[in-house]
Amino acid sequence: MAGKASRKLINETRRYLYSTFSLSELEYELFFHSGATESIVSFTYSFMEWARISGKKLLICFSSIDHSATLTLKDRFWGEHVSFYQLKLTDDLKYDHQANLAELKRFHQENPEALILYHHLWVHNETGLVSPLEELKPFKEISSLYLHIDGVQSPGKIRNWRELSVGDMFSFSAHKFGAMKGVGFSFFVKGMKYFPLLTGGGQQRDLRSGTENVMGVYSVKLAMEDLLKVDIENTYKLKCELKSFLKEELKDLGGVLDVAPSNSNTIYFYLNHLTSDISLALFDLHGLMISAGSACSSGTAKPSNVLREAHLNGVARNGLRLSLNFATTSDEIQKIKSEILLVFKKMRLTLPRY
Ligand SMILES: Cc1ncc(COP(=O)(O)O)c(C=O)c1O
Repeated sequence: MAGKASRKLINETRRYLYSTFSLSELEYELFFHSGATESIVSFTYSFMEWARISGKKLLICFSSIDHSATLTLKDRFWGEHVSFYQLKLTDDLKYDHQANLAELKRFHQENPEALILYHHLWVHNETGLVSPLEELKPFKEISSLYLHIDGVQSPGKIRNWRELSVGDMFSFSAHKFGAMKGVGFSFFVKGMKYFPLLTGGGQQRDLRSGTENVMGVYSVKLAMEDLLKVDIENTYKLKCELKSFLKEELKDLGGVLDVAPSNSNTIYFYLNHLTSDISLALFDLHGLMISAGSACSSGTAKPSNVLREAHLNGVARNGLRLSLNFATTSDEIQKIKSEILLVFKKMRLTLPRY
């Protein structure tokens, strides 16, 4: 595609995003990338550089049930000046804001020069738990603290997904709302120092180099136009119906992880006696596309951090996630229910062997 035509599509998508999120181009930077993994690493790299160049310390805050893109940051060496704080959680898997705020205020008092990069997961990718952004306001009292909001799971799944408040940085992956895979976008407040991870031809000025994925970028606009038509309330209603059904049917087989407030489409459940790699095969045979609660590697279910944090260690390898799509209908829910009943019937028949 000719350069001019590409630029036109990219600029159109940029304008569309600023307008959809009601953000001003004067106040926020926007750049496209390959997805939230790149964005999270880019922001972290930027803070590491900012701290190193200015001779400051950097504290990075994350939680034990973050998406692995954030969780694995601590496994890399970012420099002697970088340390980590694992945010405390309550028993119902929420951020323990009171305890964390006290801890970070204490750190700031002892290290007034240090930068703090706080990663916040807005909507949890496994449980669907929503952690409202307004609750983060008190953290903004710490002058050197910057908030990165992982918004990957919010578009179309919570009512107020277009209200990007309180945060300094916001990351999105477009395939989560129907656009092409391998493309995403981020906003961050102007005035915040930014050191790009990818340097080179300066295609997105000093924010990110490398030729943009033009069709991917434009698919963001097309997908978001459709997303605005999604009936979030209706999907939420259907999810609640399916969740109640699962709670009842799982009484002798496992359980549902009940989090609140939750998004419109995710249900996290577990089986008492089957690891997720095995149960997934059973669901698959019945045409039910269910995901493992935590990623499987080499065909073996890994223990889920979510289930561990919920004190369900005994079933930590048995987590399962059911996600409704944006257009799920009531008829489809009835069909899912009857297939699930068949799977559970099979499971009950084999249970005595365990
Ligand atoms: C909450 C959350 N953050 C980050 C990511 C990483 O996104 P990507 O794989 O598109 O880079 C995902 C992907 O599933 C996610 O769900």
